[in-house]
Amino acid sequence: MRILLGVTGGIAAYKAVLLLRLLREQGHAVRVIPTRAALEFVGAPTFEALSGEPVSTEVFDDVPGVQHVALGQGADLVIVAPATADFLARAAAGLADDLLTTTLLAARCPVVLAPAMHTEMWDHPATRANVATLRERGVHVIEPASGRLTGTDTGPGRLPDPEDIAREALSLVGAAQPEAEPGDLAGRRVVVSAGGTREAIDPVRFIGNRSSGRQGVALAQAAAARGADVTLVAANLAQDVTDQVVSGPRACAVVRVESTAELREAVRAAGADADVVVMAAAVADFRPAVTPDAKIKKVPGQGPAPIELVENPDILAELAHERLRPGQVVVGFAAETGDASGSVLEHGRAKARRKGADLIAVNAVGSGRGFGTDSNEVTLLDGAGDVVGQASGSKREVADALWDAVVKLLS
Ligand SMILES: Cc1cc2nc3c(=O)[nH]c(=O)nc-3n(C[C@H](O)[C@H](O)[C@H](O)COP(=O)(O)O)c2cc1C
Repeated sequence: MRILLGVTGGIAAYKAVLLLRLLREQGHAVRVIPTRAALEFVGAPTFEALSGEPVSTEVFDDVPGVQHVALGQGADLVIVAPATADFLARAAAGLADDLLTTTLLAARCPVVLAPAMHTEMWDHPATRANVATLRERGVHVIEPASGRLTGTDTGPGRLPDPEDIAREALSLVGAAQPEAEPGDLAGRRVVVSAGGTREAIDPVRFIGNRSSGRQGVALAQAAAARGADVTLVAANLAQDVTDQVVSGPRACAVVRVESTAELREAVRAAGADADVVVMAAAVADFRPAVTPDAKIKKVPGQGPAPIELVENPDILAELAHERLRPGQVVVGFAAETGDASGSVLEHGRAKARRKGADLIAVNAVGSGRGFGTDSNEVTLLDGAGDVVGQASGSKREVADALWDAVVKLLS
């Protein structure tokens, strides 16, 4: 297939190099058309060497060849990754002020754009309107991923992984990337819980926790990528985190829940025919004993009414001891902070012995670690509390290390 790879001037332009290499490895002919701004980030020789084709940004570079028409007419697929806010605006307006936008007007093949920018730029009404216009015209605009942006900011606006862009773009033209080999979870049904439960105090207030759901979502995505049929039980995830797993070729079934009781019911229902259940959600240990139907009012002069708490069922221990299905592998997470009575690992060990799960992933949380971050560091313990592995890196890398351990247990 003949692919035009447009690259525009965003910080994620370096990822276009990986996308180019991937497409070339799959046997596609790729011509890169960067914008002038893109070449501020990645040099033309990199694109030329990896594509084996010349690179130019201007319509006046090869006038006898009338490049933009030849390139546009000859393409089977156009991918622009990353697509800047500026490029989206120019494409939506039909401008033709460089080789990329001019070629885009000459192309009649499917066009896939992968925007990447800061969340504020992505959320701006101008960008939203440009994306809507492009989509109305049949252009396929991939939702940006959520995660670490330039600097310390996080949020939606990140360029998805090159593998995901390639898969989504190629599937549009019926040239889905062949899987190298069936994943090691092919044919397996898995349930992953993610996020944090909320226990209602009254109709407007709740007791919650800081779990973002990112590790659970990474586990669901990694399992789906390895061929599993995945159900994600999602407790109060941010919308952008949920978006990552409900669309695209590796979508998971998502069941949204709020409280521990709802999460328990959903996990047990989906887990009845699952080979693996991973409890990555942060589940409340206690809930208010009563939840009034009306909002609790502040009475001037009176202090706050005490909130009586009762214990929630221990979902992980139940799953581990009952095993909803013979041979089911049950995995839990222990988010711990060390204290005077023991270290993170000692608390994790005690939990592993108590719960009876096959694996417990122990991670230190608090002080900016674990919750809401892009990376994680876990120690894997077996049911006896013995260390069977260690993983650190992105939440996706940690997820894959955990699935490696699960695959060993399944076989
Ligand atoms: C360090 C740096 C990073 C940038 N990253 C982005 C980005 O991720 N997304 C974006 O839309 N614009 C980004 N910009 C702004 C674009 O480079 C600028 O709008 C430029 O005019 C885009 O040109 P182009 O659309 O022709 O490539 C960045 C600028 C700088 C200096």
